[in-house]
Amino acid sequence: MKFFIDSAKVDEISYALENWDIDGVTTNPRHVQVSGKPFLKVVQEVGKLVMQAGMDKTVSVQTNPHRHADFQAIVEEGLRLADLSENFVIKMPCTEAGFRACRELTEKGIRCNLTLCFSAVQALQAMRMGAFYVSPFIGWKEANGEEIRQFIEECVAIRDNYDYGTEILVAAVRNGRQIVDAAVSAADIVTAGFDVYQTAFQHPYTVDGLGKFQSFWDQTPYDE
Ligand code: E4P
Repeated sequence: MKFFIDSAKVDEISYALENWDIDGVTTNPRHVQVSGKPFLKVVQEVGKLVMQAGMDKTVSVQTNPHRHADFQAIVEEGLRLADLSENFVIKMPCTEAGFRACRELTEKGIRCNLTLCFSAVQALQAMRMGAFYVSPFIGWKEANGEEIRQFIEECVAIRDNYDYGTEILVAAVRNGRQIVDAAVSAADIVTAGFDVYQTAFQHPYTVDGLGKFQSFWDQTPYDE
């Protein structure tokens, strides 16, 4: 299973590449705003950094959300962005225009990530239109009291039933439990924030157990 980091912060991404061997990066307008840098500057910085770690690692870059209903505008922006870095995957929303733009960009050889996916039928349409990734937003759904396991399983089952080439990129992941939910449901990728991974990789019993083992270690001679 692939782990992507959801961030536009160069320090977080560098750390995650080096220490966690993450497989890719997803960005969105919130992450770009939080980085404190202009959009084009930060996405190109991230693209370059990730490229140094491997050409198989992608960076998802979101198109202008104001243009969600204008497929031609999404296509034009997607073409411009894809030209900036070979590892960019262009993000557009699960809207009628977003799906159509995905089809058009895919036909031109540009990889697309259909974002803001909240239903299995939206995921199916993304797959039909040739999406490289589709991003079910499970954190937002769970926060709204909706179930997520069946949602992910349905996306995976639909993809497998029809052998679509789309990878299921489970997004807006908030904790280790949701990472496991995605893994058990056979999703291809999860994307989560820096803090989510940092917290998920720890367990208080690991720390507690180390303290116990250190104490026994210190009471035992190492050699005769
Ligand atoms: C996915 O590609 C999105 O960037 C992301 O997961 C959205 O989640 P957020 O609510 O953490 O911004």
